[in-house]
Amino acid sequence: MKKIEWDDSLSVGIDVIDGQHQRWIEHFNSVVDAIESRGGHAPVTRTLGFLIDYTDLHFSTEERFMTQTAYPQIAGHKAKHEELRTTVANLIGDFEEEGDTPALEQAIDTFLGTWLIEHIKSTDQLFGAFVKECGIVLSEE
Ligand SMILES: [Fe+2]
Repeated sequence: MKKIEWDDSLSVGIDVIDGQHQRWIEHFNSVVDAIESRGGHAPVTRTLGFLIDYTDLHFSTEERFMTQTAYPQIAGHKAKHEELRTTVANLIGDFEEEGDTPALEQAIDTFLGTWLIEHIKSTDQLFGAFVKECGIVLSEE
């Protein structure tokens, strides 16, 4: 399985979001560790659970920022988040039914890891560019 490393090419130019993406990647890498250490069901379920919780928190921050800035492409962006939520729920369901399989590992790499990188580099960076163009400074509060 492939771990992800954050670098500047993933920056969206909004500190809060960049920080959350870094945390998301840490959670993702913990899932990879849990699977690869072959320590059984519990660590995988636990790390996937952390990842899904963090995904929810992160998406709600992004969606709040898009609402705050009246981002014109909010609907399409939210729809992509919804897709990933469904994917993660399906992956957890598959894992609970069948355990760790090569197909599941492949799906985690492709539908979580690769998906996130592509989402950041296209969808999230577009939002970052919009925020910059408007001269808005977004922060946690
Ligand atoms: Fe996003």
